[in-house]
Amino acid sequence: MRILITGGCGFVGSNLAIYLKEKLKKSKISTLDNLCRKGSEINRERLKFHNINNLKIDISNNKKISKLPKYDLIIDCCAEASVEVSKLNPDKVIFTNLIGTYNIVKKCVKDKSKIIFLSSSRVYSIDAIKKIIGKINLRNEIKKKFLVNENFNTSGVKSLYGLSKLSSEEIIKEYNYTNNLNYIINRFGVISGPWQFGKQDQGFVSLWVGKHMAKKKLSYIGFGGHGNQIRDIIHIDDVCEIIFKQIENFSKIRDNVFNIGGGIKNKLSLRDLTHKCQVITGNKVKITKKSKTSNYDIPYYVSDNKKIFKFYHWLPKKNIDQIIHDIYFWIITNQNIQRFFK
Ligand SMILES: NC(=O)c1ccc[n+]([C@@H]2O[C@H](COP(=O)([O-])OP(=O)(O)OC[C@H]3O[C@@H](n4cnc5c(N)ncnc54)[C@H](O)[C@@H]3O)[C@@H](O)[C@H]2O)c1
Repeated sequence: MRILITGGCGFVGSNLAIYLKEKLKKSKISTLDNLCRKGSEINRERLKFHNINNLKIDISNNKKISKLPKYDLIIDCCAEASVEVSKLNPDKVIFTNLIGTYNIVKKCVKDKSKIIFLSSSRVYSIDAIKKIIGKINLRNEIKKKFLVNENFNTSGVKSLYGLSKLSSEEIIKEYNYTNNLNYIINRFGVISGPWQFGKQDQGFVSLWVGKHMAKKKLSYIGFGGHGNQIRDIIHIDDVCEIIFKQIENFSKIRDNVFNIGGGIKNKLSLRDLTHKCQVITGNKVKITKKSKTSNYDIPYYVSDNKKIFKFYHWLPKKNIDQIIHDIYFWIITNQNIQRFFK
């Protein structure tokens, strides 16, 4: 099988490429990435070490995408992955996330390739998510269950990032209807683990661990600046494992949308994360409060993994302590990574 992973020098794409290369020994794995994300050059070196070739192409360039060789499967992991960039550089979000995926869809249709699309929990309505918090008191009642499933409200404002993901999903479904494009769409919650070059606006778990190790200050932003916002976190190894299962079972289970995340067992607030980082690093860093909330920020998100479990009898295995431990171990054993968090 010939597989192309777009965004292949990013956090998810690079880990997935190396994982699949190991699992699918007879397959040829290639990646596509224009190396615009900080840290992607380092991931490209890792791919080279594993004999995986990266095509340095901008995904929004349809001329170049259409000339690529034929693949049996394209896994679309390419994105401007930060929600906040929706405001700072909306063109980048639309060109990379929407036009880019449209180009990949056209390529798949032409070659009769399958597609696995990495979508996001951010396709859901910001207002509807905020209403959950109307019922759950962020500070005191975080033990209460409210899990977001695939039928949750997607209408209304969701950020340009979320819109680009939802619109890409709709394009994929249109081509499934008209051209029999076979697809799997995965709406992931927060993914974390080694080789994530976290920033304040994307990849906060690795950022938190890295800044504690470097003894650099951090900020609780939004919702009063208390750090009470909650997310579920899934380990990159679990993400790789479920995508591998999806590839193996593609002919039986396809044309479906799944919510996948750390789930209720892997939910935590920023304050909890701070505490865990203090324990593992032995360091306490200054954390400033910025109470103003970005209108795109959400106070809560926890994935409902019921559907993915029903179809694959699979649930994520690694808990939050393992995720934090693996990031810590990755940074401490790689000198050239430490500078990213200074
Ligand atoms: N990391 C998460 O928590 C998370 C959660 C839900 C969904 N996702 C989705 O998973 C996918 C992978 O996310 P990630 O965390 O690995 O992000 P990432 O930023 O680490 O990787 C994206 C890669 O795409 C490349 N890229 C960006 N614009 C490009 C362009 N125009 N042409 C070619 N390459 C380009 C970047 O250089 C980068 O290496 C994305 O689609 C993201 O939206 C991620």
